[in-house]
Amino acid sequence: MPSPNEPMPAGDPRGLAGRHIVLGLSGGVACFKAAELAREMGRAGATVQVVMTEAATQFITPVTMQALTGRPVYTSQWDPRQPNNMPHIDLSRGADALVVAPASADFIAQLAQGRADELLALLCLARPQTAGRLCPLLVAPAMNREMWAHPATQRNVAQIVADGARVLGPAAGDQACGDIGDGRMLEAAEICLDLIAFFQPKVLAGRSMLVTAGPTFEAIDPVRGITNHSSGKMGFAVARAAAEAGARVTLVAGPVHLPTPRGVHRIDVQSAEQMLAAVLPQAPGHDVFVATAAVADWRPVRSAGQKIKKDGSGQVPTLELTENPDILATVARLPTGQRPWCVGFAAESEDVVKHARAKLEKKGVPLIVGNLGPATFGRDDNTLVLVDAAGERTLPTGDKLVLARELVAEIARRLPGSAN
Ligand code: C5P
Repeated sequence: MPSPNEPMPAGDPRGLAGRHIVLGLSGGVACFKAAELAREMGRAGATVQVVMTEAATQFITPVTMQALTGRPVYTSQWDPRQPNNMPHIDLSRGADALVVAPASADFIAQLAQGRADELLALLCLARPQTAGRLCPLLVAPAMNREMWAHPATQRNVAQIVADGARVLGPAAGDQACGDIGDGRMLEAAEICLDLIAFFQPKVLAGRSMLVTAGPTFEAIDPVRGITNHSSGKMGFAVARAAAEAGARVTLVAGPVHLPTPRGVHRIDVQSAEQMLAAVLPQAPGHDVFVATAAVADWRPVRSAGQKIKKDGSGQVPTLELTENPDILATVARLPTGQRPWCVGFAAESEDVVKHARAKLEKKGVPLIVGNLGPATFGRDDNTLVLVDAAGERTLPTGDKLVLARELVAEIARRLPGSAN
């Protein structure tokens, strides 16, 4: 296992490969979500060591958590299984992070006061906090909305944040007690995604990125249109990777059925003209523009108001087409001060580098990312060639998310004023 705080090899898209996570449960109904969280973390490649408070064992059994993680659960600071009888020291030493989910109001109060009544609180207090050996603490609160809103809880949350903890959520919504409001624990998948993002290098901290993704749909009539096989996966992966890297991200998406990456602001559009209309007002407010969308080159001059019917005569309708606006080139021509740093994609069926280099000139952008169109559409993996004025660099075949993270790092390195 790599030692804590070491950057992980970028090759694993799951995000927690090689990580060792201590998952702490304090008492609350949301303990049932911790079972799913342990599984999510395992699926993402982590080994998970569960530690439970006495109260947590009232809601879910250590047996369940042991079965899900494949490791004995710790509940007591007097547990003699550790050879030195010091689980409060040993358990956090090899850990990459300590995640407390659910974190009850009482547990957060204990953290805020630096109390050590039980193993889990003791473990949080004793975790390494010096650079190089740091064991970060992430806390997912779960409680009734009145408890969450109480000034004492808010004070305690502010205190643990000031002491270096990261607070995930809480979410708003239905509560087990019947109330509706803030205080629900995030879903297991959300906590796991936040943890994966936590470990990604923050190469775009303080930056913003605008991304276009997916195909466009150019209506012929209310039920038919011109579109293409773009799945949007590459663009969504770029948006996710940029958000993981600390950027504020806006994603303008054509018609695709993909979940919005966490923390990303999404604007859905259908046609190229709608995509341009969504992008143009956003562009000046972003540092980087990445155009991954497979924008239809042409659209029907007229879209029929009603479905075009066969009349039985054998005559076929004639479609008159007109060229769509070039969104990337339009953004790249914005005046200095309003123009983000632009990255284009080139999906080619042959001679990727040659075509990508030509596109660099034609679109007037500093970076073009080439890929073999037919080989990438709809797939989870891809091969990218980065083409800029300085030369070419191939990012070998890999999962689109892995490639997107590498691309984001490459963009961060090239950005004017970058310290990366
Ligand atoms: O001109 P071509 O479609 O080959 O260029 C591909 C690049 O230009 C991609 O980055 C794509 O998102 C962008 N593009 C665009 N608007 C168009 C056509 C392409 O933004 N109308």
